[in-house]
Amino acid sequence: MRKGWMRLWVVGLGGLLLWPYGCGGGFPIPPLPEKVVGHCIYKNAFSGMQECKEYLGGWTSTEATNDCKNNNSAIVIDKKCGIADSERYGDCIFIVDKEKDKYARVELPGKDGSRCGSVQRGCEFFGGGSFVPTSVCGGKTTGPTGTLPIFQQPEYVCKAPKAGEPPGKGPNGQVCTWSAISGATEEGRKFEDYGSCDMVRTQRPYYPVPPNSTAKDEDARLKDPAYVKENEWVKSQIRAAACVCCHTTNAPQGPSNWYLESGPNWINSFGPRGLAMGAGWIDTVGFGAFPAEKNNGFTRATPENTNHTAFPTTDDARMRRFFEAELAYRGKKREDFKDEKYGAGPLDTQRFYVPTDCTPDQRIAADGKLYWIGGAARYIHVMEATASSPGVPPNLDTPKGTLWRIDVDWKQGKPLESGSVTYGVVPEGVAQRFPAEGKPKPLESGKKYYLYVQKDIVNPLTRCLVTIP
Ligand code: HEC
Repeated sequence: MRKGWMRLWVVGLGGLLLWPYGCGGGFPIPPLPEKVVGHCIYKNAFSGMQECKEYLGGWTSTEATNDCKNNNSAIVIDKKCGIADSERYGDCIFIVDKEKDKYARVELPGKDGSRCGSVQRGCEFFGGGSFVPTSVCGGKTTGPTGTLPIFQQPEYVCKAPKAGEPPGKGPNGQVCTWSAISGATEEGRKFEDYGSCDMVRTQRPYYPVPPNSTAKDEDARLKDPAYVKENEWVKSQIRAAACVCCHTTNAPQGPSNWYLESGPNWINSFGPRGLAMGAGWIDTVGFGAFPAEKNNGFTRATPENTNHTAFPTTDDARMRRFFEAELAYRGKKREDFKDEKYGAGPLDTQRFYVPTDCTPDQRIAADGKLYWIGGAARYIHVMEATASSPGVPPNLDTPKGTLWRIDVDWKQGKPLESGSVTYGVVPEGVAQRFPAEGKPKPLESGKKYYLYVQKDIVNPLTRCLVTIP
């Protein structure tokens, strides 16, 4: 059974906290030092799962103690984690500082073999570690390795229409399209002709996934012209949207789960959960959406319309009807999905995160300098204490209550180090995204604010409440 995004981000940040920016995941495992400085059992802030981190080699006990504190837990000095092989998926190995012989081994408890791929992805893609499976995960690794590319911010590009196509609705008859996962070109055209799939594929993890087991089923409905008409309409809507970047055979390593060319009937390549997202039975707001008027008339589920479809469309009701009919055909009812309220997995986990007070090394100093943990950052938000946590662009990344937001340019910008940024002062190579112009509102001494610092989009380093001295 497909669990979509859910299966992706199950492990993550905890292990990453001291990992320098820019190092790759899935590297060959070096021989690890025997010396155990201690271990730390904590709940991974990112995945919500418990894990155990062993500090190996050259850590001082103060460094290890502080690292554990940053994970909201207390270190056990000199002792190993010691979770039995049969009780854990495997270990995520981190080279923290080669020169100082500092390594970390994070034991990942659990026995559900179907989660191994996502555990590995969490370790390698998101954590920048290297996964070593136990027998629970068959002793072998699967799926994509390497690190996630830097998230490329959506770009709006206007192009002359393709030969043989009518003039576009943009300036001078051009066709204008957001290169964003929630973007769509004009109705009746193909996204791939006007938007950049290379950009889109940086905006969430891409990897091939086999279609649902029903993919090759014969389908008598294809003899019904009314059915075929709706089916073709849905396909043409998707062809105009960025979904094609991973959901067609043009995707570089093959399609991710469902795909447009799947036959006899492409819709059978979906699993029930994917269909329920199409029907709006599962809330997919967390994936982000443009308003229709900025996206060639296409939109999808938004905080204002939580029960809309996940598929960018010019006609939400028609799109949902198609998916509802498909679910009925498969014998599925709305209440079958009552335990899957939200569909965007880790994106929802980030969005719904409720901060607590910062530890002392995460703060805004009296001189306005910002301090965070976990390494260099690309995104910094300072928000009202009551603001919700940021999600993905274009509509969830600047929550109400944001006072200041700066972005490091994804093309050339160098990530920012803790202590190098002063509130309201925009460093070179960095764009102030909020406020659109001018200085942000001054911070008040004694007041609490929400400091949210990210390594990259949906990859938080520090997210906690600071009190201004
Ligand atoms: C960058 C690649 C990428 C893009 C672009 C993309 N997807 Fe996906 N999608 C995936 C991957 C990978 C999976 C499979 C996840 C898994 O099973 O681990 C997936 C799975 C799905 C599923 C099935 C989820 C489930 O649990 O069964 C739906 C529905 C879906 N995508 C909808 C969309 C829509 C709608 C768009 C366009 C707005 C889109 N996707 C764009 C990569 C992508």
